[in-house]
Amino acid sequence: MRVNRRGVAMLATLISVLACSPADEPTPPAAGQSAADRRAGAPGIGDPDFPRDGNGGYDVSHYDLVVDYTPATKRLDGVATISASATQELSSFNLDLTGLDVREVAVNDAPATFTRKGEELTVRPARAIADEAPFTVKVTYTGQPKPASDNANLGTYGFIPTPDGAFVASEPNGSKTWFPGNDHPADKATFDFTITVPAGVTALANGEMTGQPTTSGGKTTYRWRERHPMATYLATATLGKFDLRQGSTAAGIPNLAAADPRFKSSLDSLHTLSGQITDYWATVFGPYPFSSTGGVVDDYSAGYALENQTKPLYGGFQPDETIIAHELAHQWFGNSLTIRRWKDLWLNEGFATYAEWLWAEHKGTKTAEATFKELQSRPATDPMWKYPPGRARPDDLFNQSVYTRGGMTLHALRRAIGDPAFFTLLKTWTAEHRYGHVTTGQFVALAERLSGKNLDALFDAWLLQPRKPS
Ligand code: TRP
Ligand code: ZN
Repeated sequence: MRVNRRGVAMLATLISVLACSPADEPTPPAAGQSAADRRAGAPGIGDPDFPRDGNGGYDVSHYDLVVDYTPATKRLDGVATISASATQELSSFNLDLTGLDVREVAVNDAPATFTRKGEELTVRPARAIADEAPFTVKVTYTGQPKPASDNANLGTYGFIPTPDGAFVASEPNGSKTWFPGNDHPADKATFDFTITVPAGVTALANGEMTGQPTTSGGKTTYRWRERHPMATYLATATLGKFDLRQGSTAAGIPNLAAADPRFKSSLDSLHTLSGQITDYWATVFGPYPFSSTGGVVDDYSAGYALENQTKPLYGGFQPDETIIAHELAHQWFGNSLTIRRWKDLWLNEGFATYAEWLWAEHKGTKTAEATFKELQSRPATDPMWKYPPGRARPDDLFNQSVYTRGGMTLHALRRAIGDPAFFTLLKTWTAEHRYGHVTTGQFVALAERLSGKNLDALFDAWLLQPRKPS
């Protein structure tokens, strides 16, 4: 789902009405080529830094993912039913999918033809979809998912097979390694997961279980539902042998921790800290946006963590309170409030990094001011000062500057407007854009409105200039 696209859709309609012959006139087959192109959904959603990510012409509201996975053969059989609505007339549209064989595609229950090219699956329904019409597309697919590992020094991400299952961490654009969709954060949707695995394997997806797992013929089926909008990169189906600890936070939020048996000793601390930190962040950032919290430790040695919605995933290490504070802060900054374009990534990583400093301040270990001063003493030649965090670059998206200098930006702001305005700003920000999309411009505007100060020079120096702010 996308918010505030109404105006854009209306403008697009106006332009097409002005530019083309009347829309209700049937297109003669001889002119099929150009007319078809005009009504084809774009192969990208419009993020200039990632021109092929996501798709144009429709807006997904729900993914119903039915997945069967066998670790021994690494084979996945999937049926994805996607509910969407058109934002233009569509003679064809794209989904993002990489690898895997597509067996069948149906649009509104009628067989559709399709072609593959690179990471694009182009679907041509038997008849065009009208602008604004709701539709469903059902994709039946199979194969051995291969993780992504190419661009942007991201290492390996997406669906990563492990000896006992899979480690699924898809930021920024790896959900296409295991299900077809509109793989860009500008289109969020709700999710249902039905995951079948060999008995003895646990399937952990986002949100909550909608019933007890059922076992028959040596296979167990798990059903999970995320009923709040979610970016595709936050979707997970992490599979393997897991010990579980279930309960709820002191404030009453359901809390599920899971750990690979190799990390069994992490289970209690993960559960306890995740509960405490979720409740503490609710006092600082505003009400917790989702219906459960927790975390998953798998034995895949990623060496990093991802803030998968409701279930941050920690790859191959015992998470300490700093990283748990970081991943849980993302539930507000990134997951509830989601960026429209990757250039604004500091709105995720700068905030989650600043949350680490706030956690230390809360614990009495170190003030955010002390952390800021220490970083500010780095010499002008430090590479961080050359990389403006407000312009995250596609070939170096997760540069440390986006984290550290992004966090410093918030502390510089706190110094400029004072604690009362700063902490009111954090809560107002999360309240005004809960479950929605955000841009840097909106954050600057809100900071200026709440503080009554012109902050353009501050944000320009901290976010946009390739040099150390004075
Ligand atoms: N967002 C993650 C964090 O800062 C980092 C990250 C980016 C990541 N891409 C990833 C982690 C892919 C795992 C997989 O917490
Ligand atoms: Zn992060």
